[in-house]
Amino acid sequence: MALQEIVTYPFPILKDTAKPVTEFGEELKKLVADMAETMYDAPGVGLAAPQINIPLQLCVIDISPKDAPKELIVLANPKIIKGEGEEVDEEGCLSVREYCSKVPRYAKIWVEAQDIDGKPLSFEAEGYYARVIQHELDHLNGTLFIDRISSLKRTLYKKKLKKMLKAEEGK
Ligand code: NI
Repeated sequence: MALQEIVTYPFPILKDTAKPVTEFGEELKKLVADMAETMYDAPGVGLAAPQINIPLQLCVIDISPKDAPKELIVLANPKIIKGEGEEVDEEGCLSVREYCSKVPRYAKIWVEAQDIDGKPLSFEAEGYYARVIQHELDHLNGTLFIDRISSLKRTLYKKKLKKMLKAEEGK
């Protein structure tokens, strides 16, 4: 297992649509282990493969409470086949530095995916879990949560980031 570097906006891969996972073998298991280690280290509740510069439709999620046993969820080629209701809540992202914003999401979703062995999965998710899945799925389609906020807020964030990057360059 090895910790991977998380790329951040505006790194180009974050804008791309990832490719389907087609090989379910040892290499994929190793990648998933790296992704999980990187997510827990960050720490975060979800990580998509493009965030470590791998263009695959793959994400790991763990929303279990801090002191509870780990409950890693691995989704390969996930799709939301239906969504219902709307909830607005605060989101951040390991690939969007120093920013959080309220983002509207489906309150309930129906998901189809494959597990780490390629076995088909079909399940429903609600509330926070549904939000995290929608956030990670967005990553697989080249979308960040800042693409889902008002253009004014996005512009302000881009300005803030520009300043931040400039200040870092000057160091
Ligand atoms: Ni994210």
